[in-house]
Amino acid sequence: MRSPVAASAAVSGPVSLDSREISLPDAAATVALGQRLGAVLSGGDVICLKGGLGAGKTTLARGAISAWTGADEEAPSPTYTLVQTYDGPRGELWHVDLYRLKTPDEAWELGLEEAFAEAACLIEWPERLDGHLPPNRLDIALEPRDGGRTARLIGHGAWRTRLDAI
Ligand SMILES: Nc1ncnc2c1ncn2[C@@H]1O[C@H](COP(=O)(O)OP(=O)(O)OP(=O)(O)O)[C@@H](O)[C@H]1O
Ligand SMILES: [Mg+2]
Repeated sequence: MRSPVAASAAVSGPVSLDSREISLPDAAATVALGQRLGAVLSGGDVICLKGGLGAGKTTLARGAISAWTGADEEAPSPTYTLVQTYDGPRGELWHVDLYRLKTPDEAWELGLEEAFAEAACLIEWPERLDGHLPPNRLDIALEPRDGGRTARLIGHGAWRTRLDAI
């Protein structure tokens, strides 16, 4: 019988890193992660921001929006409007908060499917779409840890090879 060491040696070789954990000790670190993300986005990129109430999703989105637009005024939370859109040199960015969505159909009425194809999209509460999400996407799950947060980045489809760039 193979030892566990031999078994793991048998599968070693180039590893595609499709998930990463990043420690965010304070809100400034969350903004900085958002800025690094915003710098590598382009139209058609879909980012799902996961985590409970107050996890830091909007904070991260604000960092990404400032990198996208180049402006540093604080972006309003789309909690009530569901969507805020921004223009930047690389086109349109949608910041979406689906917390108050009642059915996925409401999101399609807003034009979300077209935005998935054309705009850079940051989606808070993506769970509200009941899994109707594009196969190429980045999930970022934020969780409280030691007074700060951790971010787990999980790349799906084409995003599997893009995590190193953030
Ligand atoms: N890494 C961090 N460490 C400590 N506090 C943080 C961190 N990141 C964000 N925060 C703080 O957490 C609070 C909630 O953040 P935010 O509004 O971004 O959460 P949210 O996930 O968007 O919440 P909601 O689900 O209500 O939309 C803010 O006060 C923010 O400054
Ligand atoms: Mg929020």
